[in-house]
Amino acid sequence: MGREMTIAMDGPAAAGKTTVGQMLAETLGYVMLDTGCMYRAVTVAALNQFGDVSDEAAVVALAQQIDMEILSADGFADGRSYTLLLAGEDVTWQLRSPAVDAHVSQVANYKLVREAMVQRQRMIGEKGGVVMIGRDIGTVVLPDAPVKLYVIASPEERARRRLADRQAQGATVEDYEAILADIKRRDHIDSTREHSPLMAADDAHLIDTSGKLPEVVLSEMVTLVGKYKG
Ligand code: CDP
Repeated sequence: MGREMTIAMDGPAAAGKTTVGQMLAETLGYVMLDTGCMYRAVTVAALNQFGDVSDEAAVVALAQQIDMEILSADGFADGRSYTLLLAGEDVTWQLRSPAVDAHVSQVANYKLVREAMVQRQRMIGEKGGVVMIGRDIGTVVLPDAPVKLYVIASPEERARRRLADRQAQGATVEDYEAILADIKRRDHIDSTREHSPLMAADDAHLIDTSGKLPEVVLSEMVTLVGKYKG
């Protein structure tokens, strides 16, 4: 059997990448790597160690030697898509805290933090059989990926989905406006930042998930991927 390919999946916050990325990986028998969790993990570590993320040199030094392990979610029934260990400690749920949401885009804008993470991502991508999800996978991390998907949905739809995710952890409908504001804020930072801004690769397939069930999006993606698998 030939080497399995790597699929690049990019798009803005809460566009449904992780949900459909996980489903696509399962359907193809691939693994999923959500690269956002790596920037989130650096943010957790920086907040724990320094209380904030403003000292770029300190955050870079931390990112360059961070002991981060990403494992499958096997054995957990709490809705996680993977388990992330920082120095052996399970921080999976801390990755999604409001404090991390507030600081992660700043951390992800540090050039040398990106270089350290991209290096790890390429090592994982080289093995093939990966659905890699992020903001710059098709443009920077894996520019030669044979299949590139760019997933979008309106900010309001994305905020509704993020609220639904968070309701399992106690969020209420009153949190909708704050979630929408955070999504718009991160969209702006991610797409206007200097290093590896969020954008679709020229050869990416645009997938609009607005108003579509995950199963519908999955089937569109499987059809597309099938054309490349040959
Ligand atoms: O899940 P959500 O879409 O809200 O965010 P995420 O994918 O976990 O990514 C969190 C943040 O990390 C993004 O807002 C980006 O600033 C950054 N990120 C990035 O710069 N490059 C990536 N490949 C993935 C995430």
